[in-house]
Amino acid sequence: MRTASPVLVGRAEQLAVLDAALAPARREGPSVVLIGGEAGVGKSRLVSEFTARARGAGARVLTGGCVELGTDGLPFAPFTAVLRELVRELGADGVAGLLPGGVTHDFARLLPEFGATDRDAGESVARARLFEQMLALLERLAESGPVVLLIEDAHWADRSTRDLLAFLVSRQQILDGVLIIVTYRSDEMHRTHPVRPLLAELGRLSWVERMELPRLDRRHADELVARILGREPEPSLADDVYRRAEGNPLFVEELLCSDCDSGLAAGVPASLRDLLLVSVRRLPDETQEVLRAASAGGQHIRHALLAAVTGLDDDVLTRALRPAVAANVLTADAQGYAFRHGLIREAILDDLMPGDHTRLHTRFAEALGADPGLVPPGRAVIEQAHHWYAAHELTGALVSGWRAAAQAGRALAHAEQLTLLGRVLELWDKVPDAEQWIGASQLSVLEQAARVARTAGENERGAKYASAALKEIDPAAEPVRAALLLETRALLRKHSDTDDVVADLRAALDLVPPGVADAARAQVLVALAKHGWQLRGPEASAAVDEALALARRAGDAATQATALLELAVIRYYSGDDTYALELLGLARAVAERAGAYEPLLLVVINESHVLEGMGQHEQAADVARAGIASAEDYGLARSSGALLAINVAEPLVSLGRWDEATEVIDHAMALSPSKRNIRAALRVLSGDIALRRGDLAGAGESLTAARAVHGMGSYTRHSQYHIPLAQLEIELRLAEEKPAEALAAAADADERLDLAADPRYSWPLLAVAARAVAAATAAAAGDAAGRDGTLAAQAGGLLARLRALSAQMPALGPVQQANRLTFSAEALRAAAAGHSAAATRPDAAATLAAFDAAAAAWGRIGQPSPLAVALVRAAEAALAAGDRDHAADRLRRAAELADPLGARPLMDEIAVLARSARIQPAGDRADRSAAAATPLGLTAREFEVLRLVADGRSNPDIAARLFISAKTVSVHVSNILAKMGVASRGEAAAAAHRLRLFDAADGRVAAVPFSRTARP
Ligand SMILES: Nc1ncnc2c1ncn2[C@@H]1O[C@H](COP(=O)(O)OP(=O)(O)OP(=O)(O)O)[C@@H](O)[C@H]1O
Ligand SMILES: [Mg+2]
Repeated sequence: MRTASPVLVGRAEQLAVLDAALAPARREGPSVVLIGGEAGVGKSRLVSEFTARARGAGARVLTGGCVELGTDGLPFAPFTAVLRELVRELGADGVAGLLPGGVTHDFARLLPEFGATDRDAGESVARARLFEQMLALLERLAESGPVVLLIEDAHWADRSTRDLLAFLVSRQQILDGVLIIVTYRSDEMHRTHPVRPLLAELGRLSWVERMELPRLDRRHADELVARILGREPEPSLADDVYRRAEGNPLFVEELLCSDCDSGLAAGVPASLRDLLLVSVRRLPDETQEVLRAASAGGQHIRHALLAAVTGLDDDVLTRALRPAVAANVLTADAQGYAFRHGLIREAILDDLMPGDHTRLHTRFAEALGADPGLVPPGRAVIEQAHHWYAAHELTGALVSGWRAAAQAGRALAHAEQLTLLGRVLELWDKVPDAEQWIGASQLSVLEQAARVARTAGENERGAKYASAALKEIDPAAEPVRAALLLETRALLRKHSDTDDVVADLRAALDLVPPGVADAARAQVLVALAKHGWQLRGPEASAAVDEALALARRAGDAATQATALLELAVIRYYSGDDTYALELLGLARAVAERAGAYEPLLLVVINESHVLEGMGQHEQAADVARAGIASAEDYGLARSSGALLAINVAEPLVSLGRWDEATEVIDHAMALSPSKRNIRAALRVLSGDIALRRGDLAGAGESLTAARAVHGMGSYTRHSQYHIPLAQLEIELRLAEEKPAEALAAAADADERLDLAADPRYSWPLLAVAARAVAAATAAAAGDAAGRDGTLAAQAGGLLARLRALSAQMPALGPVQQANRLTFSAEALRAAAAGHSAAATRPDAAATLAAFDAAAAAWGRIGQPSPLAVALVRAAEAALAAGDRDHAADRLRRAAELADPLGARPLMDEIAVLARSARIQPAGDRADRSAAAATPLGLTAREFEVLRLVADGRSNPDIAARLFISAKTVSVHVSNILAKMGVASRGEAAAAAHRLRLFDAADGRVAAVPFSRTARP
């Protein structure tokens, strides 16, 4: 059974093109859109979504599909369908009434309802009249409103349909108010296809837009999977679907069949096979023969390798393959060939006889053994391992698998390495004397697999390998080895079961008492400090101190760096961030010197986290960005890289640079990060931005998605992920004006989460919870029947608990302090919310002072959004105190901040307050601080891109540095060129230097990787 997604995923860009084409204001825009795309990519879904919207906007939609009946089976099929639809609606007479003179006998050729055909007219005259009548009919229909004429599947268009279509499109400019949309399968457009010249000809007309509908990108493909399943997929499932369907929605649907256990079809589903093989079966026999061989070779295959495997000489091979390229089954490049879609290859491969399989894979393995140069450098041994395995040549598979695993390890391809090691272990019992063949014991393969799994983030699998290894080992004989394995297993399990983690680590520590193996004991101690004991308690401090001394003595730099990192974390939590930063600097130096990239990345993550907590947003983002670049170098883009994306986006959100933050988040999501928490945190951040911009639907979607991610597995309650999620929920309910639900969400957070343990994330939540109290109290007081006594009581109860909590929670660093001031002010406001709306309240002056203090704190650390909110609250309090001047001043400053942020809800609030107090709100827009900060009207992001352009960097390079997609960079670059009025990057760079654009701003935008900044 196939299920479709209830909503259209992605495609915003394409819908915008179609909308623009329909918009009456855009007469000069395209009025014909030709939409090409491979089968199943979503042409019909896109246009049906569009036509539904068009109908809703009052357009008449006429749909006709071409049918596959050989080229000249059914003339005018789509137009016949259109006429039939019209006759059903208006009656034959109604249609006749629309035509000049009511003459319809030419239409009778298409539909018998129109009576007898005119036998007197010659064929060609009748045909010409039919064309004119169709044109007239559309013209008349358009008089009463816009018309969309949709011709689907034009790759099957018969000759007559093609002629009529060409006729209509060429006369399109006199057809005011008619939008013609044509869809066709571009993959069927082989060189001699009869529709091809027509499309080429039409495409040259200025009012015709050609659109090639691409496959979904990774992010949207993942979203589609989630929509179809109705839940967030396991990362491995999402990976597999994307690998095989390559973003084709139909293939995604087909592969996700509901009746297969793994959630994914094993082979190519029968329902797809015909679709995939149609074009293959039309090819000459010798071509098909070569394709069968190629299908065993992989998605991309070099010409020389295929020649070696088939034994054909160059010319013969080229001749055999030419029809496959012409038919769009293969695409050719300088090196060789690729299947247009991986599933075509799979379908061909599935069709092979079992004997063919073995024979072909054996030939591939042998060819690669004889000449490793047939594949890119470093790949031969890995490919060979695959072919021996597929050929069921067990010993060959074992030996080459082991060598290939080492090769993958050298290339930092951790996931691939793990797969190969898994295969070696799978073959272990089937190959006699496996140990002799590869020169390593099963135990050491298991050990290696467990460690690689940890790097690759495959925790569950890794823990299994570690357990299997522990069964093979005698702790009495090899205590150190056993201790390290226990430690590895503990770290692999740290996300699931705390008791097991502590048990493993304690057992490990017992195996390495002081004086036996310094390095191993140090490693276990650090792990214990981090995961085993009461977080950051005195026991942990002592353990880290001992570990540091031992690691130093043993010369183990990686452990030394990790211990320093742990010390820094302990310092940070006791409120000493300056010292914490210093320790992190030491840790970094040690790790860099030793080339220990795992601790190095952890240091960077913590460093940017600490800086962000200190209100040093710019530096926090810079450090994290530089860390991402290193993560990519180490093959960890999807794990550490995506985690660091949070650390880039978070400061950007703080700085009010929401567009940039959104770009970073989108790019990180497109990498489909392997850890759930990361994906959830990214969603929460984008939900936050959406909320502040007034996109409640978007914020709601992010919230649901983040919740779904967290709901998936048993996870420890990581406060830094759960508290912001709860905060988003409360704020969303407030924005939706559901005070009772907001209050319930706040109470739930208070009850469920250990807020006191994590002030950094709890302070902002507390402030928002106080707002929920205020809203609920006001709602209860406004309830005319006075029924809602319980709501008021609940609100009062929660406020008391929040206050108690705030009294016991420290506020470390300027960001937490700003949040605490905000909470205090919100709590005052909440306490006053139940009072009658008297114009002057005794508490108003205190509230005003409190919000002013909060605003000053936000101003000091440069966070425009909470600053603007505090100013609005201050204005509100000033008004309650009867002080219009103070209110006006604060509203004006708030408006100046909120406007460039695009914080619509806040702008609305400002306008309402201003109106009610008859204040001129927005002030002089000319002196907007943000606009003044960047020259030439460039946005902050564009300015940053320009700096890199001026440095002579390419788009992909800029994309990597800013952690955004290359496509986004190219959009920025064209905007920059337009704003600067220059034609090229070179000119832009020259102008930037001439204008000395970067002189003043130096130090602000400059990327200073790994520079530490002390508190000012
Ligand atoms: N953007 C999308 N979001 C959600 N579902 C989609 C999307 N695009 C396509 N689908 C689903 O994928 C399947 C195939 O899409 P569709 O029929 O539109 O493809 P097509 O390009 O018209 O293919 P064909 O060339 O065979 O007509 C449908 O079930 C459709 O609902
Ligand atoms: Mg279709």
